[in-house]
Amino acid sequence: MRIVRSIPELRVALKAVRESGQSIGLVPTMGFLHEGHASLIRQSTARCDTTVVSVFVNPSQFCPGEDLDRYPRDLERDQNLCLKLGVAILFMPEAAEIYPTGFTTSIEVGPMGDALCGHYRPGHFRGVATVVTKLFNLVQPDLAFFGQKDLQQTSIIRRVVKDLNLPVDILVAPTVREPDGLALSSRNAYLDPKARQTALGISRGLGKAERRFQEGERDAASLAATVRGELLDMDEIQYCEAVDPVTMDILAGTITRPAALCVAVVLGGTRLIDNVLLSPSGVVTQFISHLESKDS
Ligand code: PAF
Repeated sequence: MRIVRSIPELRVALKAVRESGQSIGLVPTMGFLHEGHASLIRQSTARCDTTVVSVFVNPSQFCPGEDLDRYPRDLERDQNLCLKLGVAILFMPEAAEIYPTGFTTSIEVGPMGDALCGHYRPGHFRGVATVVTKLFNLVQPDLAFFGQKDLQQTSIIRRVVKDLNLPVDILVAPTVREPDGLALSSRNAYLDPKARQTALGISRGLGKAERRFQEGERDAASLAATVRGELLDMDEIQYCEAVDPVTMDILAGTITRPAALCVAVVLGGTRLIDNVLLSPSGVVTQFISHLESKDS
């Protein structure tokens, strides 16, 4: 595995790969890798000849007062995991490599970036879209892998890929959970044992609503209310809504097409998000692959 810190080095490493006709998979991350990232890396190594993982805590997607400085980091562990999983290139740039002095350009993602998480994290998705677009330009992957837990992020990235005709396919992989249901997130490291226990209400609520959906309940408000019923101990419920997973528009009334129930809460100072996909046809895995986007 090559560990690469500069853009020129990355370009050199990838030139040889491209010239030999190998396919390239990219797994963009902010490090402190967990089993969720590992599952994305495994998907990439299974489908692509060469897998590139980026580890970059992207300053532009943190709002003032957020956890940029204390975001968990463990570069040595990340390197070991990537090596074990067969990653070919680990790109770990410093902030100045990605945002050199004089950097001013960014990707405006439109209203989709102002809804839900974007309402509570103004500018967050501009930062995500900008860094991900830069990574796509640097790596020029055939496939890029993202986790379903960050559903709004995946929808926005797919929108950007389509709107800017970026030649990459986006693959959204299912959320990986702890055995007790908690969705894996690097930020779970912030939770003390009591908060971690309380956090289980999120997956419990989503699971209950998912079961009601499978049993035939189709009313968006009723399903969201089922989730909310398990969120009573959270410090704050930022949102709990049924949404269209492509546009992220909030759904009301009867759900007749694929939807997602999405939640954001704050617990002990930590912001947690989670979601489940609801497919009226009952075929959720197929639905996830429908989310793959291609410039067409
Ligand atoms: O999901 C993340 O870890 C980040 O938002 C991403 C996609 C790596 C961009 O910084």
